[in-house]
Amino acid sequence: MRIVVGITGSSGSIYGVTALELLKEAKVETYLIVTKNGWKVIRDETDLTEGYVRSLAFKYYNESDFDSPLASGSFEYDGLLISPCSMSTVAKIANGISDNLLTRVADVCIKEKRKVVLMPRETPLSSIHLKNLLRLSTNNNVVIMPPMPPFYLKPKSIEDLVNYTTARALSYFGIRTRYLRSWK
Ligand SMILES: Cc1cc2nc3c(=O)[nH]c(=O)nc-3n(C[C@H](O)[C@H](O)[C@H](O)COP(=O)(O)O)c2cc1C
Repeated sequence: MRIVVGITGSSGSIYGVTALELLKEAKVETYLIVTKNGWKVIRDETDLTEGYVRSLAFKYYNESDFDSPLASGSFEYDGLLISPCSMSTVAKIANGISDNLLTRVADVCIKEKRKVVLMPRETPLSSIHLKNLLRLSTNNNVVIMPPMPPFYLKPKSIEDLVNYTTARALSYFGIRTRYLRSWK
């Protein structure tokens, strides 16, 4: 299985990094794109090095790598997870603007009817954000999954919250990881 993982410049880069860790454990081939602002937030919010984050992926691309095979619908992969997804990236995808490799991959996935899972992060949400998210959710293959904490799972730590939420996002691709929980 091949999944593209995008990390953008919204708060919560740890969600994207956790997805890469769990996908590596599940032996899924990952193609990572971190936007310029995504790297900035990773540096601001975590102690992780660029080398570590890149090492989690099978292949890494910059947002300007338009000559990557990912930019074409002819390259086969199973879907795209953008975690976290900024409102800027949401707005661009919702309006068909493919100005970097990540927004291009999203555009390709939507036209090729491949699964797209977005974890948008902003609060509060404006009408503009909500309209863009609604527009995206009208595509059957797009799942809008804001990282909202599943307190019903009685998390003991922030790590638990991040793991449970990320496992849920990955389950939309049919990937079951050790943190997948359901309410009983
Ligand atoms: C520390 C930090 C936190 C940010 N948090 C958010 C956020 O939670 N949501 C959001 O939509 N934008 C957030 N931004 C703003 C985005 O980084 C900015 O809109 C950027 O243009 C997004 O670009 P990208 O989508 O290409 O990564 C944050 C910026 C910084 C520096």
